Amino acid sequence: MKQGWRWYGTNDAISLKEIRQAGVTDVVAALYERKCGEVWPVEEIKARQAEVKKAGMDWTVVESVPVHESIKLRKGPYKKFIENYKQSLKNLAECGIKVICYNFMPVLDWTRSNLAKELPDGSTVLQYDDVEVAMFDIYMLKREGAAKDYSKEVQAKAKKKFSSLSEKAKQKVADSILLGLPGTVDNLTIPQFRDLLKTYTGITDRKLRDNLYKFLNEIRPLCDELGIKMAIHPDDPPRPIFGLPRVMSTAADFREMCEKVPSDNIGFTFCTGSLGGNPESNEVEIFAEFAKRIHFVHFRNVVYTEGRTFRESECHLSGKVDLPRLMQLLIKEEIRRGEGIVVRPDHGRYMEIDKFRDCYAGYSYGGRLVGLAELRGLEYALRHTNDVAGKIIVCTGAAGVLCSTMTEDLLAHGAKVAVLDLRGDVAKDFCAKLAAKGLTETIAIEANVLDKSSLEKARDQILKKWGRIDILINGAGGNHPKGTCPAEQMTKDTPLADTFFGLDMEGFTFVNKLNFIGTLLPCQVFCKVMCDQGGGAVLNFCSMAAYQPLTKVAAYGAAKASILNFTQFLATHLAPMNVRVNALAPGFFITNQNRFLMLEKDEKTLTPRGNKVISKTPMRKFGDPSDLFGAARFLLSDEASFITGVTLPVDGGFVSYSGV
Ligand SMILES: NC(=O)c1ccc[n+]([C@@H]2O[C@H](COP(=O)([O-])OP(=O)(O)OC[C@H]3O[C@@H](n4cnc5c(N)ncnc54)[C@H](O)[C@@H]3O)[C@@H](O)[C@H]2O)c1
Repeated sequence: MKQGWRWYGTNDAISLKEIRQAGVTDVVAALYERKCGEVWPVEEIKARQAEVKKAGMDWTVVESVPVHESIKLRKGPYKKFIENYKQSLKNLAECGIKVICYNFMPVLDWTRSNLAKELPDGSTVLQYDDVEVAMFDIYMLKREGAAKDYSKEVQAKAKKKFSSLSEKAKQKVADSILLGLPGTVDNLTIPQFRDLLKTYTGITDRKLRDNLYKFLNEIRPLCDELGIKMAIHPDDPPRPIFGLPRVMSTAADFREMCEKVPSDNIGFTFCTGSLGGNPESNEVEIFAEFAKRIHFVHFRNVVYTEGRTFRESECHLSGKVDLPRLMQLLIKEEIRRGEGIVVRPDHGRYMEIDKFRDCYAGYSYGGRLVGLAELRGLEYALRHTNDVAGKIIVCTGAAGVLCSTMTEDLLAHGAKVAVLDLRGDVAKDFCAKLAAKGLTETIAIEANVLDKSSLEKARDQILKKWGRIDILINGAGGNHPKGTCPAEQMTKDTPLADTFFGLDMEGFTFVNKLNFIGTLLPCQVFCKVMCDQGGGAVLNFCSMAAYQPLTKVAAYGAAKASILNFTQFLATHLAPMNVRVNALAPGFFITNQNRFLMLEKDEKTLTPRGNKVISKTPMRKFGDPSDLFGAARFLLSDEASFITGVTLPVDGGFVSYSGV
């Protein structure tokens, strides 16, 4: 998590010095002086950048380059405004600022009906009260047909509220709803708001969506050329209000944009507070589905009090949104990318500490300071759970599909990894790629798991560099077509060459040896070091084929069953030496060794066997290499200190399901 903070420029009640002291590295800002639609000049961007730099931080995310209403409406001089927008993007990219937040909400950027909902401890938070919004809409704005947008119950409550509230209190609700963001747009009056609403007469949800996709496809080539990441902010609240259309409220909206604008550079600002404004939304599922298109994150939480009425939570971590799970997904995505994502603590309580400032809940110092500290603590705790930091790890087959991604995860968690592989050049290239991402604690070593002397050489090289070996991961292994019998079952008509009787013994022995002996020999070489040192941990690679023989892969299944048994044997044998030995049994992951069995030549269509696998996997999908990370780190960490001899399936339920 790159720690971000929204700064509203020189008029902000919170200074850059205070922001820095909160621990922030990445300032989120804009050229607030420029009117919506104007080009942002390079000199002004540079001046703001210099201001932030002088305070010891970087301006890395823009929030927002606002989209002119005529682009949203695709009316009037919208072409000129799109050209201006592109020019601003070019100028920002020239200055190295490439993450751009914006929204496509008509008229209002966000809506709250109470800016100071008091909590029992005297601090205040922002609140969206469905009844107050209905009261404003029906009785103050007097929008035609407004009542039908609210339930009968809410309508009745709104009527009662309107007749019971003082004029001053009603005006306060209106002012809250029509308030602009600090330093951005001006506050609106009711007549001005009515005029703005009129400009959207006849603009349906469909029309607004199409206008969004057209705009994005117009700027997409530029974004792809310059590496600019566009991050649309979800609607707030995520449903139509005041009769205005909404286009970015649900997972279906996100999905449609991805389909219509085919570039990962055109992505999202993942705002948990906005998405959380829909009681039915599942923010965790949305993050998981769109992770690679999430370019910027706002983390905060909401609490529902009644119906669709919600307020901001007193704690960023608890409330409707599952922030701990989202932080896990964020960390996973950062590891996959090899770089951090800017997260800003969104909103926060107005507390005593802010009493001398001209600010309100949401944009206070104290509330966001607490929020950032909570998020930082959560990230720290998650990154240090299943801790492998500082451990010296030997991973065989580390240049392969599963173990390369696992190596990256272990490095990101502070381990040092000796990358052993038969393909020395590939191992070297892999380490160079890791180094380019800042993961430098590696050594690439060409070694053959079937050749003890080559493993001993590797051991000496590792001990020379790092002085100890804490963990061994036996990743080298796999299947080979020569160790399989092409026929699933033998019938009278099956050509003998395709049956068990036609098995190529050379192929069979190769696969069996590579997997089993290729696990045993590294244990002999590296576990001895662990025994001499006083302890260590081993992770073997087993497979589903060990529990339930898979048709065709005769040699592979037998070898993996041997590994399961050997894991228990060695765990028992080395327990007094404080060396734990466990294994993972991955389910089906599409990798080099099984691609030919699971996918047709087009690499998309499932083979009949691939179909069988998916229908026997209760989770109905192949695994992603990152699904192994948590299980591996857990078994290797001290949290599993009383666990040895275990083979843990990571298989989407494959082994539990009989198929019936
Ligand atoms: N892919 C799956 O779905 C799946 C499922 C269950 C288990 N597994 C097991 O996970 C492990 C990793 O699988 P993967 O899919 O990443 O395989 P992979 O083929 O991508 O990687 C295996 C790596 O081992 C290296 N290697 C091969 N022979 C070697 C030798 N003699 N000495 C040193 N290195 C050698 C290869 O060069 C390669 O880099 C294997 O043991 C495999 O059987 C994979």
